[in-house]
Amino acid sequence: MPSKKKRKRVERPSIHPRNKYSDNPPDFAQLASQYPSFEPFVFYSRDGRPRIDWTDYNATRELTRVLLLHDHALNWWIPDGQLCPTVPNRSNYIHWIEDLLMSDIIPSTRTNGDIIKGFDIGTGANCIYPLLGASLLGWSFVGSDVADVALEWAEKNVVNNPHISGLIEIRKVDGGETTVYQEESQTDQSVSKHCINLSEVGVVDREAAASALFESYPGANKSYHGPSILLGAVKDGEKFDFCMCNPPFFETIEEAGLNPKTSCGGTPAEMVCPGGEQAFISRIIEDSVQLKQSFRWYTSMVGRKSNLKTLISHLRSVGVSVVKTTEFVQGQTCRWGLAWSFVPPARKIISSHVAEKRVLSFTLEGLQRQYSAVNVLQAVESFFCTSGASCKLNLDSFYVDV
Ligand SMILES: C[S@@+](CC[C@H](N)C(=O)[O-])C[C@H]1O[C@@H](n2cnc3c(N)ncnc32)[C@H](O)[C@@H]1O
Repeated sequence: MPSKKKRKRVERPSIHPRNKYSDNPPDFAQLASQYPSFEPFVFYSRDGRPRIDWTDYNATRELTRVLLLHDHALNWWIPDGQLCPTVPNRSNYIHWIEDLLMSDIIPSTRTNGDIIKGFDIGTGANCIYPLLGASLLGWSFVGSDVADVALEWAEKNVVNNPHISGLIEIRKVDGGETTVYQEESQTDQSVSKHCINLSEVGVVDREAAASALFESYPGANKSYHGPSILLGAVKDGEKFDFCMCNPPFFETIEEAGLNPKTSCGGTPAEMVCPGGEQAFISRIIEDSVQLKQSFRWYTSMVGRKSNLKTLISHLRSVGVSVVKTTEFVQGQTCRWGLAWSFVPPARKIISSHVAEKRVLSFTLEGLQRQYSAVNVLQAVESFFCTSGASCKLNLDSFYVDV
């Protein structure tokens, strides 16, 4: 009898270990007893567990309101239909950024006591990331948006929390204005381009890197034709530790289809942009090429894994120094976090005595089965070429001369 191999189920982490709710998920019964406005939304299933109807927008919005009040001392509200954030999920993104900032992947330039400064692209009426980042970690924020209703309610949500309001600026993004930034000098550019070649083996997420290495970048077919995103919203000379973004994921509101199992609202202005998330994030990447080290980390949420791969290829083609990814498991849905930087990495995988050698060798991990060593060599060649290096491939002797 053929032996059936049992597949080992890999437990995917669903919540960041520093997330307030990682050990203490929200207790609906307790919240209902403390907040009468939440009580009508709580019912008890046969096993006696308190539940809410996740398909009821009023229930999810009231849950968010009481969680922000109870656990974060935040006063918060949004008008009917505006995108309602889930507090534990949104906190995961904040903690991932905290991980990036605490890591030594790129060198820190800050001195003790400096307040971390973030830029939330499309903060929405809910203004959730600035509110959480400021209250949990004392970070300061610029929260940008284009929609009047978002700007009005984000501002209300800031003003209604005087203990952190000094940390948050809500900034309107205009359609037309763009600030012209000076290109970095040729020398700087070539330094950062070289950085990816020499150091990325160690700092890029290996699985993502291996798959992206083999994809040509097809991002050009989805271009963004909307208002400014970073260029034109960031002022001359401004510096940020990071930017973050929960982009309009979809190309049409039908595609948004709004998960029938939950009701988080979301208007077309919040959920949809021509070209969807791929076009939107591609524009952030292009803006980052102009703004370079004005931000230490650029980050965005990504809704589709296929887009993640395309975006990683795009990042490689523009010569970033570091790419990091993570997976956010949110109930039944998965989202990904994508981060990149133009700051040369601190951890050099190739030490100076190795770099002096004419012949370098390295091991590639996470390579998918369908790719051979020749594919690797060809990808290495095209990689150096797109970074501006002159490069000769010799398949007979199996080397790339850079
Ligand atoms: C999916 S919502 C995210 C709202 C909130 N950050 C959250 O996580 O719930 C996307 C937001 O981006 C805004 N937006 C769209 N284009 C923008 C642009 N060019 N610059 C800034 N915000 C933009 C929309 O108005 C909307 O509020």
